[in-house]
Amino acid sequence: MRITFRLIISLAVVVASVALGSSFIQVRLERAKQQEELERRSRLLAESLQETIEPLLAKGTSKQLTRLVERFGNRERLAGAAVFDAEGKALAITASLSGLVPTAPKLAEEALKQGKDASRFDRVGGHRLHLYVLPLSVESRTAGTLVLFHEAAYIDELLSAIWRRTFGRVLVQVILIALVTLLVVRWSLVGPIAQMAEWMKLLRAGEAPNSAGIPRGDIFAPIAKEVTTFAKHLSVAKTAAEEEARLRQASESLWTPDRLKEHVRAKLQGKPLVIISNREPYMHRYKGREAQVIVPAGGVVTALDPLMRACGGLWIAHGAGDADWDNVDGHSRVRVPPEDPRYTLRRVALTKEEEEGYYYGFANEGLWPLCHIAHVRPEFRPEDWAHYQRANQKFADAALEELQGIDSPCLLVQDYHFALLPRMIKEKRPDARIVLFWHIPWPNPEAFGICPWQRELLYGMLGADLVGFHTQYHCNNFLETVDRTLECRIDRERFSVIKEGHLTSVKPFPISVSFPEPAAKAPDTDKERAAILKGLRVKAEFLGVGVERIDYTKGLLERFRAIERFLDKYPRYKGRFTFVQIGAPSRTHIKRYHDFLAEVEAEGERINWKFKANDWRPIVFLSEHHDHDEIAPYYRTAELCMVTSLSDGMNLVGKEFIAAREDLGGALILSQFAGASRELRDALIVNPYDIDRMADAILYALEMGTDERKARMQRLRETVRENNVYRWAGTLITELTQIRFEDLPAGTLA
Ligand code: G6P
Repeated sequence: MRITFRLIISLAVVVASVALGSSFIQVRLERAKQQEELERRSRLLAESLQETIEPLLAKGTSKQLTRLVERFGNRERLAGAAVFDAEGKALAITASLSGLVPTAPKLAEEALKQGKDASRFDRVGGHRLHLYVLPLSVESRTAGTLVLFHEAAYIDELLSAIWRRTFGRVLVQVILIALVTLLVVRWSLVGPIAQMAEWMKLLRAGEAPNSAGIPRGDIFAPIAKEVTTFAKHLSVAKTAAEEEARLRQASESLWTPDRLKEHVRAKLQGKPLVIISNREPYMHRYKGREAQVIVPAGGVVTALDPLMRACGGLWIAHGAGDADWDNVDGHSRVRVPPEDPRYTLRRVALTKEEEEGYYYGFANEGLWPLCHIAHVRPEFRPEDWAHYQRANQKFADAALEELQGIDSPCLLVQDYHFALLPRMIKEKRPDARIVLFWHIPWPNPEAFGICPWQRELLYGMLGADLVGFHTQYHCNNFLETVDRTLECRIDRERFSVIKEGHLTSVKPFPISVSFPEPAAKAPDTDKERAAILKGLRVKAEFLGVGVERIDYTKGLLERFRAIERFLDKYPRYKGRFTFVQIGAPSRTHIKRYHDFLAEVEAEGERINWKFKANDWRPIVFLSEHHDHDEIAPYYRTAELCMVTSLSDGMNLVGKEFIAAREDLGGALILSQFAGASRELRDALIVNPYDIDRMADAILYALEMGTDERKARMQRLRETVRENNVYRWAGTLITELTQIRFEDLPAGTLA
């Protein structure tokens, strides 16, 4: 505003100065002109009177002189006239002046002295008058003076009027200038500057203002050009910075196959990653005379195959397929995946008895029900235990053979099949860094205490440098069990066990899936759904899906009963909701599993019979092995997925379902007894023993609003994407390689 004020003042001063200056000159000229005019008129009148007065003066007739003076004294603007003799005495004078001018004014004296007429303004009786003096002569002798008095006030008035007009004009001009300046400043400067400021503010706030908003007037053209260029550069720089931050953030938070590969290479200094599990990732089986490759069902294979594909290395596992041994080289090795080999699978052969005792017996009839609290009595037979020890030794020998020549190798031992193996390796290769990852729950010490060989198992496990579980709860149970069972030192601060001078860290590492990035072309889910329904020969509006190995820990009977309860409770869904249970038969040599498969089938049939309809069934039970590609369309099209484990280390089915839902559709019903429930908070968490509440969860999943469904799925996807299996492996390996063997606290047991 100050600049506007300054502008107005400057313009006003200039305008006023010019106006006053020109008026001043005009007044001076006018004054001179009026004076000249007055003189001219006075001279003309005086000269015309001179001819009359001089003879009268010669005659000395003052009466006539007086009459004459009176007569002329009344003329326009003539205040009066007077005739004085040479001595200045008044001979005749207009009556109105007689008292005011008793003798000749000084000017008359001067005129007489110089012998010529003279004029001047003078004050007479308080009036400003113009005096004109003409010397009179009689017979060439100076005889007196004729003085004409003219009113001069009209000249002053005229000049005052000029000044008044000037001031009036200046005032109007100043007001107009102020107004125009204000308007011009407002329209042409303040407005555009405010507009530009607003534009830049938006730009600064990152709101990508429209460039049409920049003022483009004459004076702003260069600024507008510069600002537009500047904005473009700023926007490019901002985008680049954001992208960089995003990438940095993504690279910090998101683990990808490439990142894991680099990480493993750096951490293991080029040494191969070695995994040992009972279950092999690719199994050759004969179908007729043709050998077929299948990917066995189960969390370990689902989780570890993607990371071995990324990092390469060696996977040692039991060659359990009937065509396995016809598809290995002389060192029992085969490159996998068969269609695109990325890593080596080393198969270990077990005799039928070994498999029976170690795998079916001790591992799956003993440890499995021991660790899963699922109301199946664990069986511990000495002969199984013997096989378990032998099988562990067999795998240890195979591993030791593979580790030859590798300095400080890193070994990832998987699951409850190999509790003894870490110690076996460590005794032979103290330089090896060993993780034992326990994929199933760890029970409380009392529950674990029923195992007759608990001490041996724990001692074997503590040969590892790191023992991993999916949840902190299982770590706590493990540490408690060790504390109650073995002579050792527990360091609760570092969550580790020190036994015979060796330190074993115990930590949770929640496992996950690979979470593939969305396919370039989204699959046509309508088509997929139509194909599924056609294939199943059912008509249904709503689909539910469950994918499991047929295992008594998975809560399949409870799930089926919840579906039955749901239809009883909400009969409007009869004929409209079908649940497809994909179940890979598993461990069927074990009676409990064999019976359980029959129980599940019978329960499914009972429920279907109860709700019998022509072209609809509430439950479709597909009890056969399904490839991942065959399962994916069910995940993509189902309205809900049910995971109702009675006890589960993690459970990856829910995470696979989430990873498949690029459309943000579908709802996950998840058991509170699955490790995944700790992470997947946006699932509908249920207690699988509470059938009625599970039925309500099915209803909620089907009737959930689209916004809620999407929001839940969005958050679930973010969680799984962020915490994918590459992160699991990355952190596990980081942890393992950070362990320093010489790191034992002083005074610990040797
Ligand atoms: C669970 C275990 C795995 C096992 C899988 C399949 O997920 O933790 O170690 O591989 O079940 O069981 P199976 O007996 O067929 O290997």
